[in-house]
Amino acid sequence: SLKLLIIFVHLHILLAVSGEYKSYVGYKVYQVTPKTKSEQNHLRSLSLSTELYDFWSIPKKLGEKSNVLVPPKLQETFERFLRKLNITYAVAIDDVETRVQRERFLQSVVRTFSQSIKFNRYYRYDEITHYFDNLARKYPKLVTVKTVGKSFENRDIKAITISKHSIEPKNTILVDAGIHAREWIAPATALYIVHELVENYAKNKNLLKNLNWVILPVVNPDGYEYSHTKERFWRKTRKPYGNCIGTDPNRNFDFHWNEIGASSNPCSETFRGENAFSETEAIALRDLMRSISRDCKFYLSLHSYGQYMLYPWGYTESLPETWKEIDDVAQSGASAIRKASGSQYTVGSSTNVLYAAAGGSDDYALGVEEIPISITMELPSGSGSDLNGFDPSPNKIQSIVEESWIGIKAMASSVDEKF
Ligand code: ARG
Ligand code: ZN
Repeated sequence: SLKLLIIFVHLHILLAVSGEYKSYVGYKVYQVTPKTKSEQNHLRSLSLSTELYDFWSIPKKLGEKSNVLVPPKLQETFERFLRKLNITYAVAIDDVETRVQRERFLQSVVRTFSQSIKFNRYYRYDEITHYFDNLARKYPKLVTVKTVGKSFENRDIKAITISKHSIEPKNTILVDAGIHAREWIAPATALYIVHELVENYAKNKNLLKNLNWVILPVVNPDGYEYSHTKERFWRKTRKPYGNCIGTDPNRNFDFHWNEIGASSNPCSETFRGENAFSETEAIALRDLMRSISRDCKFYLSLHSYGQYMLYPWGYTESLPETWKEIDDVAQSGASAIRKASGSQYTVGSSTNVLYAAAGGSDDYALGVEEIPISITMELPSGSGSDLNGFDPSPNKIQSIVEESWIGIKAMASSVDEKF
């Protein structure tokens, strides 16, 4: 089987060379550790030049490491910059291409032959839609699937509603994932929620007694597919602007749009779009929010990585009037996870615990649609540390989605008690 693996890897290299996949040969992931406030500030300002460096994470506090993907031709400049400022760094991954190939290999060998969903590899967009359509057929009383919009490349953006019929009015929870393409663990978690609520209904029926769930697992299907088939670390949508492609959908929402932490350069990873809601994917999510906003009490946006429960505002360091109520819900999720597995989440407003970035879906949900509890959950990376980045290997999916579900259930129950 080692031979087989070698053949596979070679095949993949051939494909990479033939232009099928973007090659990460020579790319490195650096681990940088700021020791002082000033070093931390230097790194933060460097992380804003997202046309050049791809900061996968930024340090939460002094002494913590952050991971940066750097292409070969920028490594010398990057290292010189760090040395000049005396910032400690190390190479965390010096064979990014091999990592990507290994993941691709694992993805391709683990095939599910059974009908049921398995959390041992990342599902492609088509598989996700098929899964939804099967559920709708099998559980017509519990499940409805609808197309809430089209992506730029004309893929259906599909949401699933899980609702137990009753005459009592219910509150709604909206969960989305896959706003950012490469954060594969987020759609996987959204699917796990669906799986638990529908296929393990008996176990979870208390969560459907007073609540309807609407789940949109892949907001950005073009980017998601592109990250599977062409470029593993693709983040944005796929609509071109001049020579560069893609908008960061989480900078494209019309609430303090473009004020801070977003770029006007289409080549940047945080390009905010030509104008607010220039992207059809953001519009689809907005329209879905709007269609349920009267009953929707909780909007949860799944991202990765870093283990944060983030809430508004992302555009200013001041807090919403109702921050305590939101903080309560977020804390209940974080502490449920801590009790279950020991994993630590950092809880706070986006600006205060991560960075300021305007135009996010979470700010918009609270600020415009007036959904009272709005939280962005940054899921874990593969290893528990930051090392694996967007590459939690397929055999880690199951434990991550289970752990995350514990936190999500706790937040849902807390919302249920409040409203
Ligand atoms: N990592 C997410 C992003 O960069 C965090 C979003 C938090 N919310 C916000 N409105 N800034 O998009
Ligand atoms: Zn994200």
